Amino acid sequence: MIVLGIESSCDECAVSLVADGRTILSSVINSQIVHHRPYDGVVPELASRLHVETITEVYQQSLKEAGLRLDQVDAIGVTNRPGLVGSLLVGMSFAKGLAFASNKPLVGVDHILAHLYAPQLEAPVDYPHVGLLVSGGHTLFALVHGFDNIEVVGTTIDDAVGEAFDKVAKYYGLGYPGGKAVDDRAKTGNPDAYRFPQSRLDKGNHPFDVSYSGLKTAVINQKEQFLQDVTNPNLEDLCASFQKAAIDLLVRKLKAVVKHTGVSRVVAGGGVAANSYLREALLQQRTWEISYPSLELCTDNAAMVAGWAYHALLRGDRAGWDLNAESRVPRFKRRYP
Ligand code: KG4
Ligand code: ZN
Repeated sequence: MIVLGIESSCDECAVSLVADGRTILSSVINSQIVHHRPYDGVVPELASRLHVETITEVYQQSLKEAGLRLDQVDAIGVTNRPGLVGSLLVGMSFAKGLAFASNKPLVGVDHILAHLYAPQLEAPVDYPHVGLLVSGGHTLFALVHGFDNIEVVGTTIDDAVGEAFDKVAKYYGLGYPGGKAVDDRAKTGNPDAYRFPQSRLDKGNHPFDVSYSGLKTAVINQKEQFLQDVTNPNLEDLCASFQKAAIDLLVRKLKAVVKHTGVSRVVAGGGVAANSYLREALLQQRTWEISYPSLELCTDNAAMVAGWAYHALLRGDRAGWDLNAESRVPRFKRRYP
């Protein structure tokens, strides 16, 4: 079964063709980063307008790279939640138009479940496993039982970890998106130069939750002092210290989640999973079975959407023309100790 996947939940416009939920025939991604960079963040109105401009070309390119025509495609999967509603609607309208005109089945795809599915496109990972989803919009620790069955074990109570990286980068003039810039700077910095706070939610009702707003504010507040520190102002040290605080918190919680669930098979995804310090820290957990998708599958793409849709189609899911966009994360079942 060949599924055409469409992803437009944020600032990436992507179309992919995947066979049998596994083999990527093409994966075209149009990034809007250069357009949003002057604003230091994604401008929702601009994102939707750019999706309108590019989606047809991305679709045509994807078919071309796969060497296929639309009549050789069996079904269409499209991200319908969560994300920027205006952006989601562009991909969804396009998907509905294709499905209607070609009389093919359509399914709506949850972006979070698709991210957690992404590693399966490279090497099958057995269920259950612990999923760590860390991006500009999400920070999630989940027990993944199947492609559509996850239990959220912990999440952020405020900012997503990628958002903290982006805000820190913005404040220190490192550009947008800031995660990679911070990661690169941190490589030559001293991670112990500054002491930044880590959230302590370990003893509350949701002991696997995290918080990033305090850390973000502390790093931003450091700027005054940083500017006065004429003897040794060092952005590399600042990045390394922030990164250590942000990532150590993820790793500490992840260890607690593994211990609590008894599941040591761990899958990491989302843009922040590209972080070199995080990758290194996870690889040091010798007793864990770590699965990392390649960078292209960590960040937003449509292959994960087509791959996930295949399984939904197999069990008979079909979306109606009333399929709508949802901005929020659905209420996944939570699991507490
Ligand atoms: O998954 P993604 O492409 O989009 C969504 O947010 O869904 O993730 C983008 C996020 C941004 O916040 C970006 O700064 C962050 O991933 N990121 C990184 C790195 N590369 C990208 N954060 C830390 N270190 C990196 N190397
Ligand atoms: Zn994403």
